[in-house]
Amino acid sequence: MAVAVYPGSFDPVTLGHQDIIERSSKIMDRVIVGVLKNNSKSPLFSVEERVNMLKSVTGHLSNIEILAFDGLLVDFVRQCHADVIVRGLRAITDFEYELQMSQTNRVISPGIDTIFLTTNLKYSYLSSSIVKEIAMYHGDISAFVDPDIAEKVLEKAKAVKKNARPVNK
Ligand code: PNS
Repeated sequence: MAVAVYPGSFDPVTLGHQDIIERSSKIMDRVIVGVLKNNSKSPLFSVEERVNMLKSVTGHLSNIEILAFDGLLVDFVRQCHADVIVRGLRAITDFEYELQMSQTNRVISPGIDTIFLTTNLKYSYLSSSIVKEIAMYHGDISAFVDPDIAEKVLEKAKAVKKNARPVNK
């Protein structure tokens, strides 16, 4: 049985992520989406919120499981008894970082390979950071995320702005 881990921050899950999840679910017997808990990027959403959002958009896929993880990705992959890591590749700008990560993971854990799915062209420009930035300015994010996710991102962006301290000049 071929088991893959698709890891990421998913802050929030975008249509680009959903496309990779759906396509890998057709290739693999089982796909575990690993949501990084201890993220140095200071996520907008808590890990529980990110896991729940992923569950809500993947409910129709029977071979997908969503789990949070902490620490090294290769340790999580081993705990899941998975064979490979799946990552999406958008543009050439992703390549260097992804290559470094996959090579490093293979050095520290030689049995674990990474396979890359090229992102669907219509989502090749898309990132969670761009979605958050547009939401912070109350922009329309409906082309980038599922409608339920869009609602949550806009709500969260509003709450963050409300709680932000005014800048002293
Ligand atoms: O969605 P992202 O933020 O691009 O995902 C990055 C992620 C979670 C795949 C990466 O940061 C990761 O694997 N973190 C876990 C810590 C780890 O194993 N670091 C060594 C990787 S070379």
